[in-house]
Amino acid sequence: MADALLTVRGITRRFGERTVLDAVDLDVVAGEAVGVVGPNGSGKSTLLRCIVGADQPDAGETLLSGQQLDERRAEVRRDLAVVMDDIDFFPDLSVVEHLDLVARAHGQRDAEDLVDAVLDEVGLMQVSGQLPSTLSSGQRRRLALASVFVRPRTLLVLDEPEQRLDVEGVAWLGEKLVAEKAAGRGIVLVSHDPDLVAKVCDRVVRLGDA
Ligand SMILES: Nc1ncnc2c1ncn2[C@@H]1O[C@H](COP(=O)(O)OP(=O)(O)OP(=O)(O)O)[C@@H](O)[C@H]1O
Ligand SMILES: [Mg+2]
Repeated sequence: MADALLTVRGITRRFGERTVLDAVDLDVVAGEAVGVVGPNGSGKSTLLRCIVGADQPDAGETLLSGQQLDERRAEVRRDLAVVMDDIDFFPDLSVVEHLDLVARAHGQRDAEDLVDAVLDEVGLMQVSGQLPSTLSSGQRRRLALASVFVRPRTLLVLDEPEQRLDVEGVAWLGEKLVAEKAAGRGIVLVSHDPDLVAKVCDRVVRLGDA
């Protein structure tokens, strides 16, 4: 398929005797969002880690735009925007410095204007000069999301992005992800929020039913 962004085939991951992922397939085309749902421990985060190359599956493969996904390639890092639940920040860079660094590292033109616009959109303008350690947990989460929106991206891979966000924040996130789809981007969304999944996702893959 010409516009296949992500093709995941037969991902299998075992920890000792336990098979957490058993030959999971998943496809995302441009402009589409696929939800990944299931109970705690069903393997959602493990699947995302295998997809983005942060974990090595025992079997299976991941193609990004038809090519083996190799996060060592700069084009892959440019295309793939990831928010996992173990997000870390440089302790001595402020909010605005973080976003500026991410935007420039990915070669965004007009980085300053872009960072300003995203700071405003995610509601971090007031705290833009603060260090990550001084942010509230929801503000830290907003910073992690802002990092995605100041960089180029073709596919978003998000592990419970709604975590820690207030009601307005979750509503904003839903709108934003729908707009990302409209701009032709693909999304893999792991979430425990059925309303967010219903609003954003075109299809859902359920783990842990076996
Ligand atoms: N490195 C590891 N070593 C051993 N077991 C692991 C490892 N990583 C994950 N697991 C196990 O794999 C299973 C799936 O974990 P995973 O984090 O993918 O679940 P999840 O679906 O994301 O759950 P949650 O909804 O709580 O985030 C769990 O039972 C977990 O303990
Ligand atoms: Mg998880």
